Amino acid sequence: MPPANATQFQNTNHAEICDVVIGIDFGTSCSKVVLQSPYFADRRAMLVPFGDLGHPINSHLLPTKLYYDRQGNCSLATDLNSLCTSGIKLRLLQNPDIGESLSDFAITPRTLAIAYIALVLRHARQWFLTTQSKIYGNFRIRWHLNIGIPSPGYDDHDRRELFKCIAADAWRFSLGTESVSLARIWQYFEGRWKPNNRIDIESDAINVMPEIVAEVLGYAKSNLRENGLHVLIDIGAGTIDISGFILHNKEGEDRYSFLTSDLDHLGAYHCHLDRVQRIKEHVTRWFSHLAGRQDLAMPIMASLPEYFPRLADFGTDAEKDILEEFYTRCRALVHRTLKSLKKNRDPNSERWKTGLPIFFCGGGKSLSIYRRVLDDLHECWQTSMATRGLKIIDLPKPANLVADSLDEQLYDRFAVAYGLSYPYYDIGEIRPPGSISNVSIDPTPKYAHIEYVSKDLV
Ligand SMILES: Nc1ncnc2c1ncn2[C@@H]1O[C@H](COP(=O)(O)OP(=O)(O)OP(=O)(O)O)[C@@H](O)[C@H]1O
Ligand SMILES: [Mg+2]
Repeated sequence: MPPANATQFQNTNHAEICDVVIGIDFGTSCSKVVLQSPYFADRRAMLVPFGDLGHPINSHLLPTKLYYDRQGNCSLATDLNSLCTSGIKLRLLQNPDIGESLSDFAITPRTLAIAYIALVLRHARQWFLTTQSKIYGNFRIRWHLNIGIPSPGYDDHDRRELFKCIAADAWRFSLGTESVSLARIWQYFEGRWKPNNRIDIESDAINVMPEIVAEVLGYAKSNLRENGLHVLIDIGAGTIDISGFILHNKEGEDRYSFLTSDLDHLGAYHCHLDRVQRIKEHVTRWFSHLAGRQDLAMPIMASLPEYFPRLADFGTDAEKDILEEFYTRCRALVHRTLKSLKKNRDPNSERWKTGLPIFFCGGGKSLSIYRRVLDDLHECWQTSMATRGLKIIDLPKPANLVADSLDEQLYDRFAVAYGLSYPYYDIGEIRPPGSISNVSIDPTPKYAHIEYVSKDLV
């Protein structure tokens, strides 16, 4: 097994180069990694398994959790004697540099993210160098690294730089001979520790990409692709990320013109927290009711289970009350995007007459509440908004994706990592919403603002 910091196959001095791109989808709950050789072996894309470190439901899902001891030494392996931190991405997005002290160093969301991604990089490279030598062992590997960023932050220069710097620092710390350590990362930021200068990656080979662009890249590069307006909804653990974009070509290059990009903390984990909070309120009311019983002559319950409520004891509207408010907020978020597209951003699109294609992705899409939002909006947009409604589409699993075992239905969970494994300069041009002006409703479609020519105008 090559050492954890290795970047090249052992005992090779080959001059011939093979590019390999590492795509890391740094998720709130789980991270996913795909490696791709874009110019060799039919663009082979490999979904990295995490073995025992992976989640029990699928070993390609790595929980976004970091274990560390009091000296700051980090590990991805569960260790009951260590401290464990999760929610790294959410905290990073809130404030990357708010710290808490441990011994003689501080721990911040930034240092946690660097340590976590450094360990992910070590694992991914080690897996590649150990298992893929038959195919790639005769080459010198030229590495590239792409990391995802929530789409609404893409035109935020500071946020892009934050993720890019974290990726670059993580790469640097993955190359040390010593263990990945939060104490050392902190000393590095304080100027008290100098990392290895041999980084074996070009600085312009580390890039960030909006998660939503990465997610549709497989579709954009497939023969199912159609130019025009699309919506993508990603139900993650923390957030719903929703964007309306126009996919088109300009001089042979793909272009993604984002007309809207919205995000709210309505992901599957928040759905769970919201339900727990509402159930708690009902349970509290139930026990207050029991404790305040005035009829002292009434027989007392004979067994313990009789003290605990069933859903029916909360009243006939309880289920609706527990689920409905969250549903309404999700519906409002999706409706807001649709309304903005129809009213201002692309009122002349043919899709209003043929059905608006919606990619529905992310681990949380299995929760029925989200599907209900789309089904209800489909009906509403057919009946009240005079359109053909929504056309929900599954992302196709790309033919070049190699995985030990991957259910077709699970593919979209890995679509972001797959898209991130494309070389950054092959993606095409991404235009954020701020760079595209509204279009007026006009009998002759005007697409000059995005330089898009629909099929029926050619
Ligand atoms: N079968 C299922 N039923 C219900 N919820 C599920 C199911 N499978 C996964 N989830 C939920 O999906 C979420 C994870 O989805 P995903 O991996 O897309 O999120 P993430 O990428 O980590 O988050 P984000 O995109 O917000 O950073 C978790 O909250 C998990 O509980
Ligand atoms: Mg995600």
